[in-house]
Amino acid sequence: MNIGVIGSGTMGSGIAQVASTANCKVIVFDVKQEALDKSKEALTKIMNRLVEKGRIDETKASAIQNNIHYSDKLKDFADCNLVIEAIVENPEVKRKVFQELEGIVSDDCVIASNTSSLSITSLAAALKNAERFIGIHFFNPAPLMKLVEVIPAIQTADRVLQQTKNTITSWGKVVVEAKDTPGFIVNKVARPFYGEALRIYEEGIADFATIDWAVKTYAGFRMGPFELMDFIGNDVNYVVTETVFKAFYYDSRYKPAFTQKRLSEAGYLGRKSGRGYYQYGEGVENPKAIEDEKLGKEIVNRIVVMLINEAADTLYLNIANAKDIDLAMTNGVNYPKGLLAWANEKGIEASVRALDELYETYHEERYRCSPILRKMAKEGKKFEVE
Ligand code: NAI
Repeated sequence: MNIGVIGSGTMGSGIAQVASTANCKVIVFDVKQEALDKSKEALTKIMNRLVEKGRIDETKASAIQNNIHYSDKLKDFADCNLVIEAIVENPEVKRKVFQELEGIVSDDCVIASNTSSLSITSLAAALKNAERFIGIHFFNPAPLMKLVEVIPAIQTADRVLQQTKNTITSWGKVVVEAKDTPGFIVNKVARPFYGEALRIYEEGIADFATIDWAVKTYAGFRMGPFELMDFIGNDVNYVVTETVFKAFYYDSRYKPAFTQKRLSEAGYLGRKSGRGYYQYGEGVENPKAIEDEKLGKEIVNRIVVMLINEAADTLYLNIANAKDIDLAMTNGVNYPKGLLAWANEKGIEASVRALDELYETYHEERYRCSPILRKMAKEGKKFEVE
Protein backbone atom coordinates (compact mmCIF):
# COMPACT_ATOMS: atom_id res chain seq x y z
CA MET A 1 0.00 0.00 0.00
CA ASN A 2 1.26 3.50 -0.80
CA ILE A 3 0.83 6.03 1.97
CA GLY A 4 1.36 9.77 1.77
CA VAL A 5 2.03 11.86 4.85
CA ILE A 6 1.76 15.64 4.64
CA GLY A 7 3.79 17.44 7.29
CA SER A 8 6.97 15.99 8.77
CA GLY A 9 6.69 17.44 12.28
CA THR A 10 6.07 15.49 15.47
CA MET A 11 2.96 13.67 14.29
CA GLY A 12 3.75 13.27 10.60
CA SER A 13 7.13 11.68 11.40
CA GLY A 14 5.52 9.29 13.89
CA ILE A 15 2.73 8.31 11.49
CA ALA A 16 5.25 7.70 8.69
CA GLN A 17 7.22 5.39 11.01
CA VAL A 18 4.07 3.45 11.94
CA ALA A 19 3.04 2.94 8.31
CA SER A 20 6.50 2.00 7.15
CA THR A 21 6.95 -0.45 10.05
CA ALA A 22 3.77 -2.12 8.73
CA ASN A 23 5.54 -2.56 5.35
CA CYS A 24 3.80 0.28 3.52
CA LYS A 25 5.64 2.50 1.08
CA VAL A 26 5.52 6.02 2.49
CA ILE A 27 6.12 9.45 0.99
CA VAL A 28 6.52 12.32 3.44
CA PHE A 29 6.02 15.87 2.21
CA ASP A 30 6.73 19.13 4.00
CA VAL A 31 7.04 22.74 2.85
CA LYS A 32 10.21 23.11 4.89
CA GLN A 33 13.29 21.22 3.76
CA GLU A 34 14.76 21.41 7.26
CA ALA A 35 11.65 19.71 8.68
CA LEU A 36 12.18 16.84 6.22
CA ASP A 37 15.87 16.59 7.14
CA LYS A 38 15.04 16.64 10.83
CA SER A 39 12.43 13.94 10.40
CA LYS A 40 14.86 11.69 8.54
CA GLU A 41 17.58 12.20 11.14
CA ALA A 42 15.17 11.52 13.99
CA LEU A 43 14.07 8.27 12.37
CA THR A 44 17.69 7.13 11.99
CA LYS A 45 18.27 7.79 15.69
CA ILE A 46 15.10 5.92 16.68
CA MET A 47 16.04 2.95 14.49
CA ASN A 48 19.56 2.81 15.95
CA ARG A 49 18.12 2.84 19.46
CA LEU A 50 15.61 0.07 18.65
CA VAL A 51 18.40 -2.08 17.17
CA GLU A 52 20.64 -1.43 20.21
CA LYS A 53 17.83 -2.47 22.54
CA GLY A 54 17.23 -5.59 20.48
CA ARG A 55 13.62 -4.63 19.65
CA ILE A 56 14.23 -5.01 15.91
CA ASP A 57 17.13 -6.35 13.84
CA GLU A 58 19.21 -4.33 11.40
CA THR A 59 17.41 -5.74 8.36
CA LYS A 60 14.07 -4.52 9.71
CA ALA A 61 15.55 -1.14 10.65
CA SER A 62 16.87 -0.53 7.14
CA ALA A 63 13.63 -1.79 5.61
CA ILE A 64 11.69 0.75 7.69
CA GLN A 65 14.04 3.53 6.60
CA ASN A 66 14.04 2.45 2.95
CA ASN A 67 10.25 2.38 2.86
CA ILE A 68 10.13 6.13 3.50
CA HIS A 69 10.84 8.75 0.85
CA TYR A 70 11.05 12.42 1.69
CA SER A 71 9.79 14.87 -0.86
CA ASP A 72 9.25 18.60 -1.29
CA LYS A 73 6.78 18.05 -4.13
CA LEU A 74 3.16 17.17 -3.53
CA LYS A 75 2.91 15.78 -7.07
CA ASP A 76 4.92 12.74 -5.91
CA PHE A 77 1.71 11.61 -4.15
CA ALA A 78 0.08 10.55 -7.47
CA ASP A 79 0.15 6.80 -6.65
CA CYS A 80 -0.96 7.05 -3.02
CA ASN A 81 -3.88 4.95 -1.77
CA LEU A 82 -4.17 6.87 1.49
CA VAL A 83 -2.85 10.33 2.38
CA ILE A 84 -2.76 11.49 6.01
CA GLU A 85 -2.32 15.21 6.65
CA ALA A 86 -0.48 16.32 9.82
CA ILE A 87 0.38 19.99 9.22
CA VAL A 88 -0.22 23.12 11.27
CA GLU A 89 -3.65 23.29 12.97
CA ASN A 90 -5.03 25.96 10.65
CA PRO A 91 -8.22 25.19 8.71
CA GLU A 92 -7.47 27.53 5.76
CA VAL A 93 -3.98 26.11 5.24
CA LYS A 94 -5.31 22.55 5.52
CA ARG A 95 -8.16 23.18 3.04
CA LYS A 96 -5.74 24.61 0.48
CA VAL A 97 -3.50 21.58 0.72
CA PHE A 98 -6.45 19.21 0.29
CA GLN A 99 -7.64 21.04 -2.81
CA GLU A 100 -4.19 20.87 -4.35
CA LEU A 101 -3.86 17.20 -3.39
CA GLU A 102 -7.19 16.30 -4.99
CA GLY A 103 -5.82 17.42 -8.34
CA ILE A 104 -2.88 15.01 -7.99
CA VAL A 105 -4.18 11.73 -6.50
CA SER A 106 -6.50 9.21 -8.18
CA ASP A 107 -10.25 9.18 -7.53
CA ASP A 108 -10.11 6.27 -5.12
CA CYS A 109 -7.36 7.69 -2.90
CA VAL A 110 -8.60 8.24 0.66
CA ILE A 111 -7.66 11.62 2.15
CA ALA A 112 -7.43 11.98 5.93
CA SER A 113 -6.59 14.58 8.57
CA ASN A 114 -4.89 14.00 11.90
CA THR A 115 -6.44 17.20 13.33
CA SER A 116 -7.12 17.27 17.08
CA SER A 117 -9.57 20.11 17.19
CA LEU A 118 -11.10 20.93 13.79
CA SER A 119 -14.37 19.52 12.53
CA ILE A 120 -13.70 16.73 10.03
CA THR A 121 -16.92 17.66 8.24
CA SER A 122 -15.75 21.24 7.70
CA LEU A 123 -12.46 20.02 6.19
CA ALA A 124 -14.25 17.45 4.01
CA ALA A 125 -16.39 20.26 2.59
CA ALA A 126 -13.28 21.72 0.91
CA LEU A 127 -13.00 18.67 -1.34
CA LYS A 128 -14.74 18.05 -4.65
CA ASN A 129 -15.26 14.47 -3.55
CA ALA A 130 -16.00 14.80 0.18
CA GLU A 131 -16.98 11.12 0.47
CA ARG A 132 -13.33 10.09 0.38
CA PHE A 133 -12.40 12.24 3.38
CA ILE A 134 -12.03 11.01 6.99
CA GLY A 135 -10.38 11.85 10.33
CA ILE A 136 -7.57 9.60 11.53
CA HIS A 137 -6.43 10.86 14.92
CA PHE A 138 -3.18 9.44 16.28
CA PHE A 139 -1.76 10.14 19.74
CA ASN A 140 1.70 11.42 20.54
CA PRO A 141 4.11 9.61 20.21
CA ALA A 142 2.34 7.81 17.37
CA PRO A 143 4.65 4.76 17.25
CA LEU A 144 4.11 4.09 20.98
CA MET A 145 0.49 5.01 21.59
CA LYS A 146 -1.81 2.17 20.58
CA LEU A 147 -4.96 4.20 20.09
CA VAL A 148 -6.22 5.73 16.87
CA GLU A 149 -9.59 7.48 16.72
CA VAL A 150 -11.25 7.18 13.31
CA ILE A 151 -13.79 9.91 12.66
CA PRO A 152 -16.10 9.85 9.64
CA ALA A 153 -17.31 13.25 8.46
CA ILE A 154 -21.03 13.36 7.74
CA GLN A 155 -20.06 13.15 4.04
CA THR A 156 -17.74 10.11 4.39
CA ALA A 157 -18.72 7.00 2.41
CA ASP A 158 -19.20 3.87 4.50
CA ARG A 159 -16.68 1.93 2.41
CA VAL A 160 -14.06 4.61 3.14
CA LEU A 161 -14.75 4.22 6.87
CA GLN A 162 -14.46 0.41 6.73
CA GLN A 163 -11.35 0.52 4.54
CA THR A 164 -9.68 3.04 6.87
CA LYS A 165 -10.47 1.01 9.99
CA ASN A 166 -9.03 -2.11 8.35
CA THR A 167 -5.85 -0.35 7.25
CA ILE A 168 -5.13 1.22 10.63
CA THR A 169 -5.94 -2.03 12.47
CA SER A 170 -3.49 -3.83 10.16
CA TRP A 171 -0.84 -1.37 11.38
CA GLY A 172 -1.25 -2.89 14.86
CA LYS A 173 -3.33 -0.08 16.31
CA VAL A 174 -6.43 -0.17 18.50
CA VAL A 175 -9.04 1.59 16.39
CA VAL A 176 -12.10 3.27 17.87
CA GLU A 177 -14.78 5.09 15.93
CA ALA A 178 -16.00 8.49 17.05
CA LYS A 179 -18.66 10.86 15.82
CA ASP A 180 -17.39 14.18 14.49
CA THR A 181 -17.84 16.14 17.75
CA PRO A 182 -15.33 18.41 19.58
CA GLY A 183 -12.43 16.53 21.19
CA PHE A 184 -13.70 13.25 19.66
CA ILE A 185 -13.51 10.70 22.53
CA VAL A 186 -10.27 11.11 24.48
CA ASN A 187 -9.90 14.89 24.51
CA LYS A 188 -13.54 15.24 25.63
CA VAL A 189 -13.82 12.43 28.18
CA ALA A 190 -10.50 13.36 29.86
CA ARG A 191 -11.53 16.96 30.63
CA PRO A 192 -12.74 16.32 34.23
CA PHE A 193 -9.42 14.67 35.12
CA TYR A 194 -7.88 18.14 34.90
CA GLY A 195 -10.95 20.30 35.46
CA GLU A 196 -12.21 18.65 38.63
CA ALA A 197 -8.70 18.44 40.10
CA LEU A 198 -8.27 22.18 39.45
CA ARG A 199 -11.67 22.88 41.00
CA ILE A 200 -10.80 20.87 44.13
CA TYR A 201 -7.60 22.90 44.41
CA GLU A 202 -9.36 26.23 43.80
CA GLU A 203 -11.87 25.44 46.56
CA GLY A 204 -8.93 24.97 48.92
CA ILE A 205 -9.77 21.34 49.65
CA ALA A 206 -6.26 20.10 48.87
CA ASP A 207 -3.00 21.19 47.26
CA PHE A 208 -1.47 19.86 44.02
CA ALA A 209 0.73 17.25 45.69
CA THR A 210 -2.11 15.84 47.79
CA ILE A 211 -4.47 15.59 44.81
CA ASP A 212 -1.78 13.88 42.71
CA TRP A 213 -0.94 11.50 45.55
CA ALA A 214 -4.62 10.59 46.05
CA VAL A 215 -5.26 9.90 42.37
CA LYS A 216 -2.21 7.66 42.07
CA THR A 217 -2.71 5.87 45.39
CA TYR A 218 -6.45 5.25 45.38
CA ALA A 219 -7.31 5.20 41.67
CA GLY A 220 -4.14 3.69 40.17
CA PHE A 221 -3.39 6.43 37.62
CA ARG A 222 0.27 6.50 36.58
CA MET A 223 0.44 10.28 36.96
CA GLY A 224 -1.65 12.71 38.95
CA PRO A 225 -3.51 15.48 37.08
CA PHE A 226 -1.04 18.24 37.99
CA GLU A 227 2.02 16.14 37.15
CA LEU A 228 0.35 15.27 33.87
CA MET A 229 -0.55 18.91 33.04
CA ASP A 230 3.08 19.87 33.77
CA PHE A 231 4.18 17.08 31.46
CA ILE A 232 1.82 18.03 28.61
CA GLY A 233 2.49 21.75 29.10
CA ASN A 234 0.01 24.14 30.69
CA ASP A 235 -0.20 26.18 27.49
CA VAL A 236 -1.12 23.13 25.40
CA ASN A 237 -3.50 21.62 27.97
CA TYR A 238 -5.21 24.97 28.55
CA VAL A 239 -5.80 25.47 24.83
CA VAL A 240 -7.35 22.00 24.46
CA THR A 241 -9.74 22.75 27.35
CA GLU A 242 -10.61 26.17 25.95
CA THR A 243 -11.17 24.73 22.45
CA VAL A 244 -13.51 22.02 23.75
CA PHE A 245 -15.33 24.61 25.92
CA LYS A 246 -15.90 26.96 22.98
CA ALA A 247 -16.76 24.17 20.55
CA PHE A 248 -19.47 22.87 22.89
CA TYR A 249 -21.10 26.31 22.74
CA TYR A 250 -19.65 27.30 26.11
CA ASP A 251 -21.12 24.38 28.02
CA SER A 252 -20.11 25.30 31.59
CA ARG A 253 -19.03 21.71 32.29
CA TYR A 254 -15.88 22.34 30.25
CA LYS A 255 -15.11 25.78 31.67
CA PRO A 256 -11.33 26.29 31.88
CA ALA A 257 -9.71 27.19 35.22
CA PHE A 258 -8.11 30.54 36.03
CA THR A 259 -5.39 28.71 37.95
CA GLN A 260 -4.14 27.12 34.76
CA LYS A 261 -4.62 30.26 32.69
CA ARG A 262 -2.48 32.27 35.13
CA LEU A 263 0.27 29.64 35.12
CA SER A 264 0.24 29.69 31.37
CA GLU A 265 0.40 33.52 31.32
CA ALA A 266 3.31 33.50 33.74
CA GLY A 267 5.21 31.14 31.48
CA TYR A 268 5.00 28.40 34.13
CA LEU A 269 4.33 25.84 31.44
CA GLY A 270 5.50 22.76 33.31
CA ARG A 271 8.52 20.54 32.79
CA LYS A 272 9.56 22.26 29.57
CA SER A 273 9.96 25.64 31.30
CA GLY A 274 11.31 24.27 34.60
CA ARG A 275 8.24 25.34 36.51
CA GLY A 276 4.53 24.66 36.47
CA TYR A 277 2.44 23.39 39.36
CA TYR A 278 5.75 22.04 40.59
CA GLN A 279 9.32 23.20 40.24
CA TYR A 280 11.83 21.10 38.36
CA GLY A 281 15.58 20.89 38.48
CA GLU A 282 18.39 19.60 40.64
CA GLY A 283 17.82 19.81 44.37
CA VAL A 284 14.40 21.48 44.17
CA GLU A 285 12.06 20.48 46.99
CA ASN A 286 8.36 20.56 46.25
CA PRO A 287 5.65 20.54 48.95
CA LYS A 288 4.77 17.05 50.16
CA ALA A 289 1.31 15.51 49.97
CA ILE A 290 -0.86 15.36 53.06
CA GLU A 291 -1.39 11.62 53.11
CA ASP A 292 -4.78 11.52 54.75
CA GLU A 293 -6.81 8.47 53.70
CA LYS A 294 -10.26 10.01 54.17
CA LEU A 295 -9.36 13.15 52.23
CA GLY A 296 -7.57 11.12 49.56
CA LYS A 297 -10.56 8.89 48.96
CA GLU A 298 -12.93 11.86 48.82
CA ILE A 299 -10.77 13.53 46.19
CA VAL A 300 -10.56 10.37 44.11
CA ASN A 301 -14.27 9.62 44.31
CA ARG A 302 -15.08 13.09 43.10
CA ILE A 303 -12.68 13.02 40.15
CA VAL A 304 -13.54 9.45 39.11
CA VAL A 305 -17.29 9.98 39.28
CA MET A 306 -16.95 13.10 37.14
CA LEU A 307 -14.95 11.10 34.58
CA ILE A 308 -17.57 8.34 34.66
CA ASN A 309 -20.30 10.95 34.08
CA GLU A 310 -18.44 12.38 31.07
CA ALA A 311 -17.90 8.90 29.61
CA ALA A 312 -21.59 8.05 30.20
CA ASP A 313 -22.68 11.28 28.52
CA THR A 314 -20.44 10.48 25.54
CA LEU A 315 -22.32 7.20 25.18
CA TYR A 316 -25.66 8.93 25.78
CA LEU A 317 -24.97 11.31 22.89
CA ASN A 318 -23.92 8.42 20.62
CA ILE A 319 -20.44 9.82 20.10
CA ALA A 320 -19.05 6.28 20.40
CA ASN A 321 -20.10 2.88 21.70
CA ALA A 322 -19.36 1.75 25.27
CA LYS A 323 -16.54 -0.59 24.31
CA ASP A 324 -14.76 2.07 22.22
CA ILE A 325 -15.12 4.71 24.95
CA ASP A 326 -13.33 2.41 27.39
CA LEU A 327 -10.68 1.34 24.86
CA ALA A 328 -10.01 4.98 24.04
CA MET A 329 -9.19 5.92 27.61
CA THR A 330 -7.08 2.86 28.41
CA ASN A 331 -5.11 3.00 25.14
CA GLY A 332 -5.05 6.73 24.39
CA VAL A 333 -4.21 8.09 27.85
CA ASN A 334 -3.30 4.91 29.77
CA TYR A 335 -6.16 5.04 32.27
CA PRO A 336 -5.92 2.12 34.70
CA LYS A 337 -9.45 1.00 33.79
CA GLY A 338 -12.12 1.88 31.28
CA LEU A 339 -14.47 4.43 32.83
CA LEU A 340 -17.67 2.55 32.01
CA ALA A 341 -16.21 -0.71 33.36
CA TRP A 342 -15.28 1.37 36.42
CA ALA A 343 -18.88 2.52 36.74
CA ASN A 344 -20.07 -1.10 36.59
CA GLU A 345 -17.62 -2.00 39.34
CA LYS A 346 -18.35 0.98 41.55
CA GLY A 347 -22.09 0.56 40.98
CA ILE A 348 -24.22 2.69 38.68
CA GLU A 349 -26.53 3.60 41.53
CA ALA A 350 -23.63 4.64 43.75
CA SER A 351 -22.30 6.82 40.92
CA VAL A 352 -25.69 8.51 40.51
CA ARG A 353 -25.84 9.14 44.26
CA ALA A 354 -22.35 10.64 44.32
CA LEU A 355 -23.20 12.96 41.42
CA ASP A 356 -26.51 13.98 42.98
CA GLU A 357 -24.71 14.82 46.22
CA LEU A 358 -22.30 17.07 44.33
CA TYR A 359 -25.22 18.69 42.52
CA GLU A 360 -27.05 19.23 45.82
CA THR A 361 -23.97 20.98 47.19
CA TYR A 362 -23.15 23.20 44.22
CA HIS A 363 -26.26 23.46 42.04
CA GLU A 364 -24.01 23.79 39.01
CA GLU A 365 -24.56 22.26 35.59
CA ARG A 366 -21.17 20.55 35.70
CA TYR A 367 -22.45 18.17 38.38
CA ARG A 368 -25.68 17.13 36.67
CA CYS A 369 -25.92 13.37 36.32
CA SER A 370 -26.11 12.01 32.77
CA PRO A 371 -29.65 10.81 31.97
CA ILE A 372 -28.23 7.46 30.84
CA LEU A 373 -26.75 6.77 34.28
CA ARG A 374 -30.01 7.58 36.03
CA LYS A 375 -32.00 5.40 33.63
CA MET A 376 -29.58 2.48 34.01
CA ALA A 377 -29.62 2.77 37.79
CA LYS A 378 -33.43 2.58 37.74
CA GLU A 379 -33.40 -0.45 35.48
CA GLY A 380 -30.51 -2.14 37.33
CA LYS A 381 -28.46 -2.30 34.11
CA LYS A 382 -24.71 -2.34 33.52
CA PHE A 383 -22.64 -0.93 30.64
CA GLU A 384 -21.85 -3.41 27.86
CA VAL A 385 -18.10 -3.05 27.69
CA GLU A 386 -17.00 -6.68 27.13
P1 NAI B 1 4.35 20.19 14.04
O1 NAI B 1 4.40 21.66 14.19
O2 NAI B 1 5.34 19.35 14.79
O3 NAI B 1 4.50 19.81 12.49
C1 NAI B 1 3.79 20.43 11.45
C2 NAI B 1 4.61 20.35 10.16
O4 NAI B 1 3.77 20.75 9.07
C3 NAI B 1 5.84 21.25 10.14
O5 NAI B 1 6.98 20.50 9.82
C4 NAI B 1 5.53 22.29 9.04
O6 NAI B 1 6.66 22.68 8.31
C5 NAI B 1 4.57 21.50 8.18
N1 NAI B 1 3.69 22.33 7.35
C6 NAI B 1 3.06 23.49 7.68
N2 NAI B 1 2.31 23.91 6.65
C7 NAI B 1 2.45 23.02 5.67
C8 NAI B 1 1.92 22.89 4.34
N3 NAI B 1 1.09 23.81 3.87
N4 NAI B 1 2.27 21.83 3.63
C9 NAI B 1 3.12 20.90 4.10
N5 NAI B 1 3.67 20.96 5.34
C10 NAI B 1 3.33 22.00 6.10
O7 NAI B 1 2.84 19.78 14.38
P2 NAI B 1 2.28 18.43 15.04
O8 NAI B 1 2.33 18.52 16.51
O9 NAI B 1 2.92 17.27 14.36
O10 NAI B 1 0.73 18.51 14.63
C11 NAI B 1 0.28 18.30 13.33
C12 NAI B 1 -1.19 17.99 13.33
O11 NAI B 1 -1.45 16.87 14.16
C13 NAI B 1 -2.11 19.12 13.84
O12 NAI B 1 -3.27 19.10 13.08
C14 NAI B 1 -2.40 18.68 15.27
O13 NAI B 1 -3.66 19.14 15.72
C15 NAI B 1 -2.43 17.17 15.14
N6 NAI B 1 -2.13 16.42 16.36
C16 NAI B 1 -1.09 16.77 17.18
C17 NAI B 1 -0.80 16.00 18.31
C18 NAI B 1 0.34 16.36 19.21
O14 NAI B 1 0.37 15.86 20.34
N7 NAI B 1 1.31 17.16 18.77
C19 NAI B 1 -1.61 14.82 18.66
C20 NAI B 1 -2.62 14.49 17.68
C21 NAI B 1 -2.87 15.29 16.60
